[in-house]
Amino acid sequence: MADLTKNGILNSIKKVDDKRIDKNHLILNSIKNFEVKENILHLDLSLSIPQTEVKEELKSKIIKAIKEDFSDLSSVKLNILAKITPHTDKRKDALLPGVKNTIAVASGKGGVGKSTVAVNLAVALAKDGANVGLIDADIYGPSIPLMLGVKDRPQVYQKDGKVIMQPLENYGIKMISIGFLVDDEAPVIWRGPMASGAVKQFMSDVNWDDLDYLVFDMPPGTGDIQLTLVQTIPLTGAVIVTTPQEVSLIDARKALKMFNRVNVPVAGVVENMSYFIAPDSGKKYDIFGFGGGEKMSKELQVPFLGEIPIDPRIRIGGDKGIPIVFDLPDTEYSEIITGISRKLAEQINLINLNASSKVEILLDDEEQ
Ligand SMILES: Nc1ncnc2c1ncn2[C@@H]1O[C@H](COP(=O)(O)OP(=O)(O)OP(=O)(O)O)[C@@H](O)[C@H]1O
Ligand SMILES: [Mg+2]
Repeated sequence: MADLTKNGILNSIKKVDDKRIDKNHLILNSIKNFEVKENILHLDLSLSIPQTEVKEELKSKIIKAIKEDFSDLSSVKLNILAKITPHTDKRKDALLPGVKNTIAVASGKGGVGKSTVAVNLAVALAKDGANVGLIDADIYGPSIPLMLGVKDRPQVYQKDGKVIMQPLENYGIKMISIGFLVDDEAPVIWRGPMASGAVKQFMSDVNWDDLDYLVFDMPPGTGDIQLTLVQTIPLTGAVIVTTPQEVSLIDARKALKMFNRVNVPVAGVVENMSYFIAPDSGKKYDIFGFGGGEKMSKELQVPFLGEIPIDPRIRIGGDKGIPIVFDLPDTEYSEIITGISRKLAEQINLINLNASSKVEILLDDEEQ
């Protein structure tokens, strides 16, 4: 029989065949509490899965695997903690102390669906139980007010001599946009530094409180404004949105390079407008080509998070201010987007774990 140690237990858990248990993420630190008392194992296990995936059936599988390897145990009391690891970064901690992770949703090319993807991912993450905020970093073309159906002005108050804005809320997420603060036309005449200054204020002067994810809907392009922004925001990771055809992929590659240049890990590529399924015939049409996003992520060795089809309901959701994952949660397309949001959460977790892996290895060595 294997030794009843944290390592021994982890090895048993790794034998469980379930996609919620990602073997690469199971490390000693996944075990938060480990105690054997009178042949009963008390175990707190932290998994990088959303709260909604913590189910009895998953617990039973894990308990069974442990009991098989450690037959002397009379019982296993397992507690699964859904884990959202924080990005440890001094700059982020100073600017956004309660925010665990920051994610930019970007693309090189305009109009590929960044805002649509950002909004739906934010709502999907929140539906899974995370605390989510959304910053509209597109100062020249804010989309968040329309796409999330919010028009109010944020409340302001004074704190320590500073004016603080209260973010607006809808669909379980907090949000801020220049569109809540100024007339539609005003920001167009702003110069670059004013735009990045506004985004900086959206971080420092908004009461974000505690958030698991703060998502940034980025402006299109990879020019000076975008570069300044990605340097201003202490980012955990970036999501690159592309459509399948070459013109969009060329720009997506540029965006990837921009993030590489400033050492921001790319959490993944999302291919949007991937295909269209005709509602009458069910036939699939590859309107903008096929498979470009996945091919590019392979080539550049970044994770591929998934494909979102073209569907009028996605566009209508944006136009009427009710994101599809909220409005039509049971449709296949909402499920696809939710799947992407979960993969993204996993990747963010992995980025954070990789960043702290040196510490983990030391801990591993100490155990033996
Ligand atoms: N999968 C989709 N199916 C149908 N319509 C979509 C889809 N994705 C985006 N759209 C629509 O395409 C248009 C452009 O999308 P969106 O505004 O999200 O792109 P963007 O990349 O943020 O644009 P910009 O570069 O101007 O910020 C919107 O009208 C949106 O509703
Ligand atoms: Mg946009």
